[in-house]
Amino acid sequence: MDNLLKLIDINLNYKTDNNLIKVLQDINLEVKLKETVSIVGESGSGKTSLIMLIGGLEKASSGKIFFENNEITNMDEDEISNIRRKNIGIVFQSFYLIPNYTALENVSLTLEINKISNPEMKAKEILERFGLKERFYNLPGQLSGGEQQRVAIARSIVMKPKLILADEPTGNLDSENSELISKILFDYINSEKASLIMVTHDNNLANQTMKKIKIKDGKIN
Ligand SMILES: Nc1ncnc2c1ncn2[C@@H]1O[C@H](COP(=O)(O)OP(=O)(O)O)[C@@H](O)[C@H]1O
Ligand SMILES: [Mg+2]
Repeated sequence: MDNLLKLIDINLNYKTDNNLIKVLQDINLEVKLKETVSIVGESGSGKTSLIMLIGGLEKASSGKIFFENNEITNMDEDEISNIRRKNIGIVFQSFYLIPNYTALENVSLTLEINKISNPEMKAKEILERFGLKERFYNLPGQLSGGEQQRVAIARSIVMKPKLILADEPTGNLDSENSELISKILFDYINSEKASLIMVTHDNNLANQTMKKIKIKDGKIN
């Protein structure tokens, strides 16, 4: 399998007034194309920080990150957001849909930003595939948690990213919706030759990935 992502000796520290908090220490990780990885660990162990680093939303204090053999740790904001926009879809526990945009607008906006033709048609296609045909014109506040997460996933995969980063994607959902969301994610990975890195407390979900990584006190063990 081709190499998609490589983290080498990554450290992440936060400086407070007179303290240095070591959030991630000596993280080494390789993810190949089509590989699925779950990240498990106690609250506060550094899982979200790791997702943010991989997504280029946070800067490492030291170490290197390569995405498709391009080092992203020495890129500027514009270059990183360019790579992220084209290649990485991010799904969070708390959806983060734009509250005054309809389900359809939330998804088509991503296509418009990327100057894709027929954004509305393509957004409708994917929402329909996720069982949301009757929900195109609803605002997020008018949708259930499971529906909102399906819209959020539609938005994150509509550009066909090579990597999906999911931070507790089913953390706010009941078991029925959790199963639906995991099916959607794994169907995408299988049909589009993409990779998945997913933080989850759900053992059922974690056991479906090819690789399981445990983080404790900022270290992989
Ligand atoms: N911006 C920040 N400034 C200072 N400390 C932070 C910041 N973000 C996260 N932390 C700390 O980093 C540690 C790991 O947080 P996080 O990555 O959110 O853990 P997890 O997702 O595993 O619960 C925690 O101790 C948290 O308090
Ligand atoms: Mg977290």
